[in-house]
Amino acid sequence: MPSAVHMPAWQQLQTARNTLVEQKTTIHQQFESDPLRFDRFSVKTPELVFDYSKNLLTADIQQLLFDLADQCQLPVAIDRMFTGQSINPTERRPALHVALRGHHVNGLEKEVAAVREKMAEFVGAIRGGSWKGCYGDTITDVVNIGIGGSHLGPAMVVRALENFAVGHVRCHFISNVDPAAALRVLSRLKPASTLFIVASKSFSTLETHQNALLARRWFLDNGGAERDLRKHFVAVSSNVEAAAAFGIDEKNIFPMWDWVGGRYSLWSAIGLPIALSVGMDHFRELLTGAHHADEHFRTQPLSDNIPVIMGLLTAWYGGFYNTTSQVVLPYSQSLELFPAFLQQLSMESLGKGVNLAGDAAELDTGQVVWGAPGTDGQHSFHQLLHQGTRIIPADFIAVAASPGSAYREQQDHLLANCFSQSQALMDGKSLDQAVAELKAAGMDDNAARELAPHKVIPGNRPSNTFLLHKLTPHTLGYLTALYEHAVYVQSVLWDINAFDQWGVELGKKLSGPIFSALADPDKQGDFDASTNNLIAICKTWQED
Ligand code: F6P
Repeated sequence: MPSAVHMPAWQQLQTARNTLVEQKTTIHQQFESDPLRFDRFSVKTPELVFDYSKNLLTADIQQLLFDLADQCQLPVAIDRMFTGQSINPTERRPALHVALRGHHVNGLEKEVAAVREKMAEFVGAIRGGSWKGCYGDTITDVVNIGIGGSHLGPAMVVRALENFAVGHVRCHFISNVDPAAALRVLSRLKPASTLFIVASKSFSTLETHQNALLARRWFLDNGGAERDLRKHFVAVSSNVEAAAAFGIDEKNIFPMWDWVGGRYSLWSAIGLPIALSVGMDHFRELLTGAHHADEHFRTQPLSDNIPVIMGLLTAWYGGFYNTTSQVVLPYSQSLELFPAFLQQLSMESLGKGVNLAGDAAELDTGQVVWGAPGTDGQHSFHQLLHQGTRIIPADFIAVAASPGSAYREQQDHLLANCFSQSQALMDGKSLDQAVAELKAAGMDDNAARELAPHKVIPGNRPSNTFLLHKLTPHTLGYLTALYEHAVYVQSVLWDINAFDQWGVELGKKLSGPIFSALADPDKQGDFDASTNNLIAICKTWQED
């Protein structure tokens, strides 16, 4: 399928965009001229409200975007995902994370249920206290050793659902190969009551392997014996052989499948830390929430389909406003790791330079995804969103309910800041307003006119708002799956593969020879002069 740029709607969108700019039509004006704008540009589901009314959109542009999706045969692509077709052609396989959360496809239900059952037994044993450490201690601390998709998803959810964490099991995460990361976690733990999950789909990732070795050494150096390792180490992997070779008891290896991509794997046994933290019932609720989003994506018409609209909006700004980044602003401290999770999901999926046929992509693919919780971000990077020269579309995520009536006032401040930020991005402040404000504050005309340009805020900056009633396992699953599907939508529009990551594979291999040059005292670097000198300086300093 040719990419969106070849579709008739693309040309029409170009004209519509030019008209919008020439006529200086603002989002604010459109709210004034259309009392139904919020209804027209929002989607309500039992889980959340998706408000996309503060975008650079008219009803005509909205329709053209849906036409574009149709012309790119998005409905067919959605069907291909849910019918288990090979939508990851470079690795010749389907992408079936939807099968993990209740969608019946390719007869996978039995396998999925069997692993879920194994998870439930394990989680029951750890949380119930029947799984004992080598000296008979109850396991109180679980350390997930993994990186990328084997880390970010579980870490994000465990953090987001901290309020649901009942029980005695504390979850910790080690991902970076920097030994400081592992030591910081391990220094607080006792080997006899600690269990490690080595989470690696491939079981060949350098960082995870190194950290697993470090954890094993720590365990053995602190009172554990080789024969005790099986009580303190389990694994999640599709490479059972390698996990067993590492010394993990085969019955404690939770299988994964090649049809689940790393960044889509939190719904599999990679989600063990989640289930250990919040319990199996809450883990199932997370899956049900995601399944609801799957059903929404699979069955809703394009015009009411949240991931479709999310993906189309990103394409609209990337294609016609040359945006290069997208900011995600959860006004919820619990969602503090959500932007980092989305970063891998989106950037590893959409950072591609060729289309499905292997030809150079005709459009810039993928946006830099970044963000941090509000209101913290308001006091650091929001300045660039308001007055910087670039347009950076923003996703605001807010949760209506407060943690308890005692905190209602603070929660309302949080929400007020969220809504006022999207309003400020949209409305900005004109030169006249700035001058009038300064004069009202007692400044004389000349001084006011001199200062006013610095106070101008261009406005007309687009944003979406996701408003959740409550942050629960169900709504979090729903929200997360919406973003997953929005990534797939973009890949269809850009005609690229969202499910491979060959670029990262190269980086994995390159460090080997440099490691050898660093580790071997007799070896000189044989690289470029910069690398050789950096290696030589390190070696000298390491000897000090
Ligand atoms: O960073 C590349 C990558 O392959 C990711 O896609 C994946 O999530 C991560 O490494 C970890 O891989 P594994 O689970 O095989 O250790």
